Amino acid sequence: MQDILLKVENVSKTYREGKLETQVLCGVDLSVYRGEQLAIVGGSGSGKSTLLHIMGSLDKPTSGKVLLEGEDLYSLSAARQAQIRNASLGFIYQFHHLLPEFSALENVAMPARIAGVDKKTAFGRAEALLERVGLSHRLSHAPSELSGGERQRVAIARALINQPRLVLADEPTGNLDAASGEAVYALIRELAAQLGTAFVVVTHDNALAARMDRQLSMKSGKLTTGARQ
Ligand SMILES: Nc1ncnc2c1ncn2[C@@H]1O[C@H](COP(=O)(O)OP(=O)(O)OP(=O)(O)O)[C@@H](O)[C@H]1O
Ligand SMILES: [Mg+2]
Repeated sequence: MQDILLKVENVSKTYREGKLETQVLCGVDLSVYRGEQLAIVGGSGSGKSTLLHIMGSLDKPTSGKVLLEGEDLYSLSAARQAQIRNASLGFIYQFHHLLPEFSALENVAMPARIAGVDKKTAFGRAEALLERVGLSHRLSHAPSELSGGERQRVAIARALINQPRLVLADEPTGNLDAASGEAVYALIRELAAQLGTAFVVVTHDNALAARMDRQLSMKSGKLTTGARQ
């Protein structure tokens, strides 16, 4: 049997605002295996981001559990959750979320600095990662001085700096043209293979999803096998 890295067990999520209840996730079960590249496809509003946030300890499920390497994320203190997010998880967002006042190098080094890595080591690692994503000539550029695809590559490097076991990516190519989107997926596949990092990537795009090892489909808060919707 393959080694399970993260397990989602019967997770449901309902948002309540006054009398209004919106059920967004309905009994989702999911295992992410060590080192795999998993795509989750589904239409807008189907619950993909909500699930990704819950997998990353960023949003609490209404019921059910998320186990990362056997540890029940939502039974932990907020401080321990933050530590796990920093050390074991990497996040890539649709709109990169880079800090505008810092250079590419500083943005990538930031999670390592937060983890207590000294400046020289953190910057060394950041430089090596930026080289790996093809941006060694853009180290001191601010996000506003980079193209959309370059920003996403910086965001990928930042997600990898603490050598996480799992990277969660929410529409990482959502605002890129087709060629840059393809390049980002190729890079994700290459890094996953080289570093043994597992990737869960949420996307609208079936063609890009097909590039990953395995595809799941989200519809009305339920997860099914295969990329069809
Ligand atoms: N804080 C909230 N309060 C109430 N409803 C919410 C909240 N956040 C999300 N929702 C609802 O939950 C549903 C799923 O949202 P989610 O962001 O997970 O969808 P998604 O699959 O990521 O969509 P998209 O592809 O457009 O990003 C949506 O209908 C949304 O309106
Ligand atoms: Mg979303």
